[in-house]
Amino acid sequence: MNQPVMEGLRLNVPAYVKHQRLVAWVAEIAALTEARDVYWCDGSQAEYDRLCQQLVDAGTFQKLNPAKRPGSYLAWSDPSDVARVEDRTFICTKNKADAGPTNNWMEPAEMRALLQTGDKALFKGAMRGRTLYVVPFSMGPIGSPIAHIGVELSDSPYVAVNMRIMTRMGRAVLDTLGDNGEFVPCVHTVGAPLEAGQADVKWPCNKTKYIVHYPETREIWSYGSGYGGNALLGKKCFALRIASTMGRDQGWLAEHMLVLGVTSPEGKKHHVAAAFPSACGKTNFAMLIPPAGFEGWKVTTIGDDIAWIKPGKDGRLYAINPEAGYFGVAPGTNVKTNPNCMASLDKDVIFTNVALTDDGDVWWEGMTDAAPDHLIDWQGKDWTPAIAKETGAKAAHPNARFTVAATNNPALDSEWDNPAGVAIDAFIFGGRRSTTVPLVTEARDWVEGVYMAATMGSETTAAAAGQQGIVRRDPFAMLPFMGYNMADYFQHWLSLGAKLGQSGATLPKIFCVNWFRKGADGKFVWPGYGENMRVLKWMLERVDGQGQGVEHAFGTSPRYEDLNWQGLAFTPEQFQTVTHISNEDWATELKLHDELFVQLAHNLPAELPATKAKIEGRLAKA
Ligand code: OXD
Ligand code: MN
Repeated sequence: MNQPVMEGLRLNVPAYVKHQRLVAWVAEIAALTEARDVYWCDGSQAEYDRLCQQLVDAGTFQKLNPAKRPGSYLAWSDPSDVARVEDRTFICTKNKADAGPTNNWMEPAEMRALLQTGDKALFKGAMRGRTLYVVPFSMGPIGSPIAHIGVELSDSPYVAVNMRIMTRMGRAVLDTLGDNGEFVPCVHTVGAPLEAGQADVKWPCNKTKYIVHYPETREIWSYGSGYGGNALLGKKCFALRIASTMGRDQGWLAEHMLVLGVTSPEGKKHHVAAAFPSACGKTNFAMLIPPAGFEGWKVTTIGDDIAWIKPGKDGRLYAINPEAGYFGVAPGTNVKTNPNCMASLDKDVIFTNVALTDDGDVWWEGMTDAAPDHLIDWQGKDWTPAIAKETGAKAAHPNARFTVAATNNPALDSEWDNPAGVAIDAFIFGGRRSTTVPLVTEARDWVEGVYMAATMGSETTAAAAGQQGIVRRDPFAMLPFMGYNMADYFQHWLSLGAKLGQSGATLPKIFCVNWFRKGADGKFVWPGYGENMRVLKWMLERVDGQGQGVEHAFGTSPRYEDLNWQGLAFTPEQFQTVTHISNEDWATELKLHDELFVQLAHNLPAELPATKAKIEGRLAKA
């Protein structure tokens, strides 16, 4: 194979690479960014180990005590680079209306001038002194009809090793791509070029950040951050923002949803896809262990964050998890809240921004009841419970994460890697709401379900930079992840439902849940975690046409006696607190739905205000 040589730079193209368009693009980006050299990731274990050692030598990684946490590493980011930056995330379409009012927008040529073509374009020379890693990845089982391929060019070895866990990455992907296959090009730089002789820092990044998507040409350009969704471009950028536009064009769905399997004691299996905003317990729900009273029930994980869902020939919706690993929030995770997750973290994990114990292990708030006497916190400072009491310093950053392979999960579903996906029986939408929204409500039909999902609100969390605990509308838990106009996305859901319905297929049922209602004392009333199984079982009974419930203004909810309470002391009064519908609260809530509809007025499907009018009519009679 030709080795195109640029001034002082070999592209180092391996002989197995047959895709000339890919090679030409790598050459173009290497020239633009003035990368020192190019390395093609093959995805092997030996390569992973070598890059991790390189990160240890650079001070980015600390190797954890192999007796406590074999094969695992800890990284501490720059304190300014700790979460997704939604205000720096752009959807660049020719027409602003195509990005819609919920996205930051810039005209593509204007953005390209800023990033690529202008005199001071940010990507020009951005990789000087650094290696450009070519990271080929498949979102979904390699070769699956539901999967798609991307190639990330990044100057961050931290990104390369995380991508190996989070995706199917390496040579096998290029083999599948052949000499002319389609891939989504993703360019990433930490934006910290090194001049000759300049020493590197442990976590290079830039104060200026741009996370940019061109849905019309299906490209991703990310500048300035090395953290999570800003930098691991297969995840939010490709699997949600770009994939949602592919789904719109091709008739499928890319969703911010976990996918799980539930098997009853009789061996009957259902599959459920559930959307929750970031840091609202998707990983916990996906790994749920049924509580006392549910002996013989089994919950298994297909995915914990993203689902790609395509209609099958039989008219049913089939879902795959496009990812191969979990990039989960560590704080709050423990052997009681999520035993399967804790077991997944026993070995071969990359931790980011958790605290280091004196014996070379990790700790985060909520991992154990009592904190260790001494730690090094995520900023490398001494931490003790006394210091924390005095200064409020957290040992782990609230958005500290673990990156771990799905195959570490003891509850992994046997079908998780099935290229055909699993048939979805129910969709669940859930926000984090201290008030107003009841524990569980079933939509009476697809349109009512789309309304519930579209108007979902949630209190903000540490997963995104910015103020926390503010209720914002987060339609379908997709607000930060939509690649096109939100109103058009609502229409896409409605049209898909109508089309599948007409084909005679049984559509999945749609439910809305809220695990987060608080009592007068400001504490959560619903115990959550494994106890969510009680609600899940009711939903599956409804899918099977068996469970009982009562209709109200927004849909159908169970009465106290409709849930199985065996093994849990939860009183009818407590149940009332988490299910009560206050007309006053809902009058305020519906005004907020109105605000959303005003914001999305352009192209808003008429079915949504019509559903709202029906709810108002029912409330008036209640
Ligand atoms: C995530 C997020 O990382 O939603 O999954 O922020
Ligand atoms: Mn997420």
